[in-house]
Amino acid sequence: MFITFEGIDFCGKSTQVELLQKFFINKGREVKVIREPGGTLISERIRDILLDRKNSEMKMETEFLLFSSSRAQLVREIIIPALEKNIVVISDRFHDSSTAYQGFGRGLDISKINVINSFAISNVIPDITFLIDISVEECLKRKALRSNIELDRIEISSNTFYQKVREGYLKLANEEKRFVVINGTQSIEKIHKIIIERISLIKKGLIDEN
Ligand code: ADP
Ligand code: TYD
Repeated sequence: MFITFEGIDFCGKSTQVELLQKFFINKGREVKVIREPGGTLISERIRDILLDRKNSEMKMETEFLLFSSSRAQLVREIIIPALEKNIVVISDRFHDSSTAYQGFGRGLDISKINVINSFAISNVIPDITFLIDISVEECLKRKALRSNIELDRIEISSNTFYQKVREGYLKLANEEKRFVVINGTQSIEKIHKIIIERISLIKKGLIDEN
């Protein structure tokens, strides 16, 4: 099973990915957790280029192709082999991030994004995608609480950019059935509970058989 998490920065994805990973481990399931961009040696190197604030000259086309390259490597080196071994794969972001950030956020042509996304991911589509939705105001509040952390090249983007990304995600979720939209201002425990319930709905055996 392939599970992805999406949402604007600070929505709580990493927190939920970690809880879900622990949940599966407790159930005796083998699970592989990855993050995007990254997850392989090559992809982590591309991540460094993408997030480095020194690269302020990066064009949006370059940015999109780098995210796609990182993803193409991750899919072939890690995701496909893991799924073939029946390992549960959980990814913190996947191709929907490119549609939301580079497409809706930066304004690249969505039909071109779709073509390159398909090429990068081959036919590895997530079984379920959790969109943790928070407002840009909530994002800013959480960002301020973590003022000790240096923000990366994308995290310093404007509020208007984040607003477009959020709306883009909601539009995508409306179009594709694999999405589950969760209000990210609920408690961490409540969100985790919703996630488990939804996974068990689509794949009962994955959670119950052990
Ligand atoms: P992301 O991976 O989406 O950037 P994180 O999981 O790192 O988000 O969470 C961002 C910040 O928000 C962290 O400080 C985290 O403790 C906090 N957080 C996560 N989930 C919630 C929640 N449901 N309610 C309030 N704060 C949360
Ligand atoms: P990261 O530190 O992993 O952020 P987060 O914890 O919010 O996932 O940085 C990834 C950044 O890259 C994040 O701001 C979202 C952005 N991004 C894109 O713009 N396009 C993409 O395709 C992906 C995967 C990420």
